[in-house]
Amino acid sequence: MADNQGNQLAKNYHLDNPQTSSQGSGGFFLKGAGHCDWGLQSRLARMFRPASGNTVMLAFDHGYIMGPTSGLERLDLVIPPLIPFVDVLMATRGALRSSIPPTQPKPVCLRVNYDSSVLYDDMSLGGGLACDIRNAVRMHADCMAVQTFIGAPGEKNSLELLSRTVDAGLDYGIPTLGVVAVGKQMARDEKFFLLATRLLAETGCHLVKSYYCEGFERVAAACPVPIVIAGGKKLPELDALLMCERAINEGARGVDMGRNIFQSENPAAMCRAVAKVVHEKHTAKQAHELFLNLCN
Ligand code: R5P
Repeated sequence: MADNQGNQLAKNYHLDNPQTSSQGSGGFFLKGAGHCDWGLQSRLARMFRPASGNTVMLAFDHGYIMGPTSGLERLDLVIPPLIPFVDVLMATRGALRSSIPPTQPKPVCLRVNYDSSVLYDDMSLGGGLACDIRNAVRMHADCMAVQTFIGAPGEKNSLELLSRTVDAGLDYGIPTLGVVAVGKQMARDEKFFLLATRLLAETGCHLVKSYYCEGFERVAAACPVPIVIAGGKKLPELDALLMCERAINEGARGVDMGRNIFQSENPAAMCRAVAKVVHEKHTAKQAHELFLNLCN
């Protein structure tokens, strides 16, 4: 019988022995995807640069619960200039169809669930499927994203939705991104992220979006698929870059970042600075210097 004691004793993360292509990844450069279908690997290889193994995903799906979020008031004006500097676009189908030219070349991670709006006290209640697999294929999605609410009242529904999305995606070689949501009453510590990220990976998703925390290296080591980190609320640029640097050094495979990019005083410069940290191992300080130079 499963219990909630065993994970409190977990300590053998083998941080000096990262999961490699010979350990469950079958020769593919991304952990956890070695035994996946060619088409699914091909889509992952469009999202994650094979040279660095990492990705810069631009998240601009905030409107699906927040409405016209600061910095995203006009998707059609804000997002297209940033596309050359990122690897993946993460958005709803409504944002893409209405505001992003289909001629743009970058892979798309499509948010396929809806949630309660920010007007509700408990966002975990009331979510469901916003876009089924047929429509995801029509949208030429390279990945589908589903929000999950681990430890909240909406946990069961969100895990059911994640499972069904993984099933549907596998029929078409489309990977699924499991998103770890953090609510007002939910913890944001290592213990929570260890549980949530591992749970999502074992439910079948091919990559996980979570948050940076103290002890992140253990979170990344215990999650058998790549983790990308969300940025969260807007920070000063140097602090956001420091968070990226720590996350990458501790095992994140990239970022899925929104507000710290589109709410920056110079979003394009911030994209380029983040990419230097994510793909070229620049320090936050070096990347911040680039940011300042580009601003000038
Ligand atoms: C929130 O509505 C979405 O899940 C965002 O995609 C996610 O929070 C990442 O954006 P940010 O970096 O602004 O947290």
